[in-house]
Amino acid sequence: MESVKHLKTYMEDNHFDLNELSNELNEWKNSLIIYNFALDEINTKLKIINEEFQFIHNHNPIEHIKSRIKDPRGIMQKLHRKGHAISIENAKKYIHDIAGVRITCSFISDIYEVFNIIEKQNDIKVLQVKDYIKNPKANGYKSLHLIISIPVFLSTGMQEVCVEIQIRTIAMDFWASLEHKIYYKFDKDVPRHLLNELKEAADAAHELDVKMKKIKDRVDIFQTVGKQQTLI
Ligand code: GTP
Ligand code: MG
Repeated sequence: MESVKHLKTYMEDNHFDLNELSNELNEWKNSLIIYNFALDEINTKLKIINEEFQFIHNHNPIEHIKSRIKDPRGIMQKLHRKGHAISIENAKKYIHDIAGVRITCSFISDIYEVFNIIEKQNDIKVLQVKDYIKNPKANGYKSLHLIISIPVFLSTGMQEVCVEIQIRTIAMDFWASLEHKIYYKFDKDVPRHLLNELKEAADAAHELDVKMKKIKDRVDIFQTVGKQQTLI
């Protein structure tokens, strides 16, 4: 109770208006709804790609998909970090990961297959490609990052909406989620020996990706050529 009184006094002293603050947050939330529609569009596209692949090639390139909308506070912090004034217009202009999709594939070849299919769709514009698989980060991080724009049709007309797409294998995802937890556990200051071990683990994850693909290719050959052949 005391702390609420304290906060109220602090806000009054600093001319904060709670109603204004909550109105502003609501305005942000309403303006960001379009990013939900963009995620719906891209998720439908990915579902079609996966089902068509299953139908034609008897193989799912996509293991799973996760999507999220960045919280308004996170967007404001990022605008501030990048030195831009905090406004909805600037958020739409400068923050390209308000809508994010993470696609997890079984094999590295699937990542590029999914990328090629996305790139070929006429309504999608690929604005940026960062290939952290061909050029991994120094810590060992690997993934293919795309910034795309996709049209969303509203009652008022069409709007192009940016979406960040991260495509990675299960092994890359396993590594990235653990690394992310460790990074924040140590408040972004991870001890050197752990960084070295993480890099080794990233290399091991890559070896696993390569090995699993080799096994899969042999199984594919076995299936095409037939059980009589002694290829396997
Ligand atoms: P920001 O978008 O400002 O973060 O910088 P950027 O545009 O240079 O980012 P980049 O495209 O390199 O990465 C964006 C996202 O990829 C991050 O928000 C993370 O989700 C993921 N990511 C990038 N690097 C790492 C990493 O070293 N470890 C993990 N776990 N994730 C990473
Ligand atoms: Mg980014």
